[in-house]
Amino acid sequence: MVMGAFSISVALLLLSLFHQVHCEHSYKVGRVAESTGSGCDLYQGNWIFDTSYPLYDVSSCPFIEKEFDCQKNGRPDKDYLRYRWHPTGCNLPRFNGGDLLSRLRGKRLMFVGDSLSLNQWQSLTCMLHRAVPAAKYSLTRTGDISTFTFPAYNVKLLFYRNAFLVDVISTSEGAVLNLDSIEGAKVWKRMDVVIFNTWHWWTHTGRKQPWDFIQVGGKIYKDLNRLVAFKLALNTWAKWIDSNVDPTITKVFFQGVSPDHSNASFWGEPNANQCAGQTKPLLGNNYPGGPHPAELLLEKVLTTMLKPVYVLNVTTLSQLRKDGHPSVYGHGGHRDMDCSHWCLAGVPDTWNELLYAALIVKN
Ligand SMILES: *[C@@H]1O[C@H](CO)[C@@H](O)[C@H](O)[C@H]1NC(C)=O
Ligand SMILES: *[C@@H]1O[C@H](CO)[C@@H](O)[C@H](O)[C@H]1NC(C)=O
Repeated sequence: MVMGAFSISVALLLLSLFHQVHCEHSYKVGRVAESTGSGCDLYQGNWIFDTSYPLYDVSSCPFIEKEFDCQKNGRPDKDYLRYRWHPTGCNLPRFNGGDLLSRLRGKRLMFVGDSLSLNQWQSLTCMLHRAVPAAKYSLTRTGDISTFTFPAYNVKLLFYRNAFLVDVISTSEGAVLNLDSIEGAKVWKRMDVVIFNTWHWWTHTGRKQPWDFIQVGGKIYKDLNRLVAFKLALNTWAKWIDSNVDPTITKVFFQGVSPDHSNASFWGEPNANQCAGQTKPLLGNNYPGGPHPAELLLEKVLTTMLKPVYVLNVTTLSQLRKDGHPSVYGHGGHRDMDCSHWCLAGVPDTWNELLYAALIVKN
């Protein structure tokens, strides 16, 4: 890259960003900043009450999954629907679903990951359906892959459920989580846009843990430190991207770690019952609980990569949304407390506004 080719102001902007984050990422932030003309970090900001939100009425999104439809599940408050993310230095481009569909014409966009990817994929399909309510669509599910199609645009939006990105292999001894093996890549290999995410399943133990052993470097372990295992799997993923992705064909995104709000002492309400009864976000731009440890590891792995990966850096802005979870208005009603997924409409709509902002700059 020849610096002389850039205008002075862009060069200065890139230089100043260089001091904040590592080179690889500063380049990508620079691309967004260039388009907004202000050197603005879209991920630094705060939530503002805005009655023009939500972006869609969830009761007119016919394919919404019950677990995300908090209003239908009896959630009594509505303010959580009306917050807009406001970056400190600029405004987020207004989401334009028709424009996004035109840009994606003939393309396939896939979310790969756990149910937080499902959450974002559902949000995006509702946002697009809202933009073109008369357009025909189809929704099919085959194994771990859900496909939402807008035939008139020849656009496919897919969700591939793959909680670890690396493989869980069943053997006669039990299920093995193989940190070196990434056969799932066959599914996402030929996509035009892929948005990855993994984290929540790495912490599961007991009955919620879907493996019996961990394999890495030819050795089998009964267990490993989960953050270490997470990082090793991300390295395997990063190596696969570096050796297989052609960035002129496939745009790679990573959905930053989606935080849960199961422990209220992180935001200074030690006596609260997890996220239950939370109706307001934190209004500042700092989360008292500090950065998420998994997000820090993810960023470390990304610095080692050769191919460009755009981080949808949603961790901090979502940490501020202690009010955004279903709590007891998820799954089957009041059976359990869900402080990790997000109500729809809600926080994942903002992730998609940020995805849209990144895509319109990249094209
Ligand atoms: C994500 O955002 C946080 C808070 O604004 C920042 O500290 C971090 O460096 C960002 N990470 C990346 C990869 O941009
Ligand atoms: C919540 O976090 C605090 C501070 O890290 C810790 O002391 C406490 O044990 C946690 N509570 C639960 C229920 O995990």
